[in-house]
Amino acid sequence: KIIVLDFGSQYNQLITRRLRDFGVYSELLSHKITADEIKKINPKGIIFSGGPNSVYDKDAFKVDPEIFKLGIPILGICYGMQLMSYDLGGKVEKADNSEYGRADIEVLKDDAVLFKGLPKKQYVWMSHGDLVTKAPEGFEVTVTSKDCPISAIADNKRKFYGIQFHAEVRNSEYGLDILRRFAFDVCGAKNNWTMDDFIDLQVDHIRQEVGDKKVILGLSGGVDSSVTAVLIHKAIGDQLTCIFVDHGLLRKNEADQVMNALNKDLGVNIIKVDAADRFLSKLEGVTDPETKRKIIGKEFIEVFNEEAKKIPDADFLAQGTLYTDVIESGTDTAQTIKSHHNVGGLPKKLGFKLIEPLRKLFKDETRELGEKLGIPHELVWRQPFPGPGLGIRVIGEITPEKLEIVRESDAILREEIKKAGLDEKIWQYFTVLPGIRSVGVMGDGRTYDYAVAIRAVTSIDGMTADFAKIPWDVLQKISVRIVNEVDHVNRILYDVTSKPPSTIEYE
Ligand code: XMP
Repeated sequence: KIIVLDFGSQYNQLITRRLRDFGVYSELLSHKITADEIKKINPKGIIFSGGPNSVYDKDAFKVDPEIFKLGIPILGICYGMQLMSYDLGGKVEKADNSEYGRADIEVLKDDAVLFKGLPKKQYVWMSHGDLVTKAPEGFEVTVTSKDCPISAIADNKRKFYGIQFHAEVRNSEYGLDILRRFAFDVCGAKNNWTMDDFIDLQVDHIRQEVGDKKVILGLSGGVDSSVTAVLIHKAIGDQLTCIFVDHGLLRKNEADQVMNALNKDLGVNIIKVDAADRFLSKLEGVTDPETKRKIIGKEFIEVFNEEAKKIPDADFLAQGTLYTDVIESGTDTAQTIKSHHNVGGLPKKLGFKLIEPLRKLFKDETRELGEKLGIPHELVWRQPFPGPGLGIRVIGEITPEKLEIVRESDAILREEIKKAGLDEKIWQYFTVLPGIRSVGVMGDGRTYDYAVAIRAVTSIDGMTADFAKIPWDVLQKISVRIVNEVDHVNRILYDVTSKPPSTIEYE
């Protein structure tokens, strides 16, 4: 395995991710780790990640200097290279021009091991304010660029390497090849790690941590909580109880699908709570979007708590937190980007110990894991669905009649999108009931009924989005079916706004 020490770069986990993609197990660890602790882990190599600091900052992240004496290969990336240079007696200075973005580099040495067989001229992604102006004793400069004369350094004897650019991002032309050369040629790592190993490792880990205690988990039916549930179930079987709160705002057949896949087929112990009436009565007459969200969130926690209390000796609460959730909520080294809102947002004060076995994974790795664990493809690849569910897709007051319209029209939309083979091409697609009514004509009669809006977007991460260009004939089919099959709908609208300025959801 190769370990990555975290100096706070937003790309740090991407490095571990790339290595895992190569089949080399990798983990991100705190820069505070000691040389002794590393010795116990016995990694084939160490990577120092980038980070926002300057080595001269008062609170700059440092490493245990003994790490340089372990005889383990080290690759410093960006701040990691500066820190290594500084610690080993080189010189680091403020750059005349901070560099952000694409830069052209030139490889100077034919025998530069990280660049072996790669074109001498290539482009990379730079992002730094400081740079190394003198390589430490024992190092040679292997790569140069206009604004950063010392773009890479190498000490082949000690197997210490530094690169000023971010090889882990796709904007570096041969970045992955460079990381590969470090992992395989320098460290001699083997590409024998698979998702099955991850499962075995986590199963062992969960068993050790939990012992004979009990674990509860709030199951939403989404990918993350489902995968967490099945993984923990694999480790400890019926010591895990999932609480699945059906707030009546789920999509058509959703609750049955989840129960069939996880409970019936995979044997996960699930308590399903039918709380639709409770939620609907709390929401009666409420029209303000934020108030609706708050009521749903609060009620969710209450229902969950009531059920959790019935499992008196549960010590652990499992959550499907992913790496992106961790980083967005801020970590030791990374700044907070936004507070993470998990389904219902179960508060810490419940007094459980947390288990979050997916903390190190990205969404697509989680999906791969889900498939490996035998969760059906549809469930693993389903589109994002907000915690407050259809409650925020009925604009204004929620009534059973309006919920029914959204639920039925959404089911038709999903069916047709799937039939057209578009379901894995569109990030999210759903219907919304804006609450307006308009005049129509059906048969020989006048109607005065609801309009249903179709919202479909393409996106990478949900932060920004573009409206999906669904072919007209598919839209036509959807439109005809919804109007014919769902009562009280006489008009279909297609939302053609991106995010920003709109959001993906309507409330
Ligand atoms: P917006 O509407 O803010 O949505 O553009 C961005 C993404 O987040 C999802 N979303 C939520 N997910 N709980 C969730 O788990 C929520 O309260 C929530 N609100 C929005 C939304 O579906 C989209 O994918």
